[in-house]
Amino acid sequence: MLAQAVKKCAPPGFEIVPFDLPEFDITHRDLLLSEIGNLRPDVILNCAAYTDVDGCETAEELATRVNGEGPGNLAEAAKENGAVLVHVSTDYVFDGSKREPYTEEDSPNPQSAYGRSKLAGERALLESGLERFLILRTSWLYGPGGKNFVETILRLASEREELRIVSDQVGCPTYTEDLAAGIFRLLDFPGHASRVTRHGHYGLYHFSNEGSCCWHEFAEEIVENARKRDMDLKVERILPIATEDYPLPAKRPPYSVLSKNKYIEATGEPVPEWRDGLSRYFGTKQNP
Ligand SMILES: NC(=O)c1ccc[n+]([C@@H]2O[C@H](COP(=O)([O-])OP(=O)(O)OC[C@H]3O[C@@H](n4cnc5c(N)ncnc54)[C@H](OP(=O)(O)O)[C@@H]3O)[C@@H](O)[C@H]2O)c1
Repeated sequence: MLAQAVKKCAPPGFEIVPFDLPEFDITHRDLLLSEIGNLRPDVILNCAAYTDVDGCETAEELATRVNGEGPGNLAEAAKENGAVLVHVSTDYVFDGSKREPYTEEDSPNPQSAYGRSKLAGERALLESGLERFLILRTSWLYGPGGKNFVETILRLASEREELRIVSDQVGCPTYTEDLAAGIFRLLDFPGHASRVTRHGHYGLYHFSNEGSCCWHEFAEEIVENARKRDMDLKVERILPIATEDYPLPAKRPPYSVLSKNKYIEATGEPVPEWRDGLSRYFGTKQNP
């Protein structure tokens, strides 16, 4: 999902050279070093990950190779080639015990195999000795090009009269195009000197859309948007339920809102509200 948004949102002057499975696998260190050595890019933007949160519980070894070792391989390639590495991580590195937005200073304490594997990736990057890198932790991503909560709710709402959605996990939905735009604002490109790179303020940043909600409120807003656009819906009721009434293999943090203060101070740019991002996503569904 994010890779599609990055390709769409790249500012003029950025030449994107996409790499993907099966030819390019971030766990294959030697292949990666030679491919990136041939290209000598200015920036490596890693959108690759093993993102099946529940699947990670039974495939932690694979998840750790992709999400944990992969970023370390990319950091090595970035170092060898003088490139900036941009890597994306997750709110699921936190345990969710806070009740106010998580800052970059808060200690991670992942509760799932996915969270542990993503934290291992952050640490591999930090320990690589690479100086020019950005790690953006984000949350609840949706956008064109992948399985996501918005599409799942739209499908279920067209099939069922009643939906039962978890209301005791609070976070923030993030539209992939807003994250991609946020990433580019942190970087230098022709016509844009980033305050962050100009002052060497590399490192860890949190970025999601602004505001917060639970999955139940998010589902209600999705259906509201679909109704406004006269989409074919069967749903009549959306009921709030507790996490324990919808057991899943991976434990999720009950609260994982990310503070964007560091990003906002560094870029001087506001972050769009999640409802605004969702509405723009519905706009692109009608006019892609
Ligand atoms: N989705 C979310 O809600 C969410 C929330 C917080 C953070 N994030 C993070 O945001 C980033 C982007 O997520 P996304 O939702 O855009 O992910 P996505 O749609 O699942 O895309 C990830 C891509 O990585 C590919 N991939 C898997 N293993 C690979 C490997 N070894 N080498 C190269 N490519 C590989 C996948 O290919 P296949 O499809 O063929 O496996 C897929 O195309 C990830 O770092 C993710 O951890 C996501």
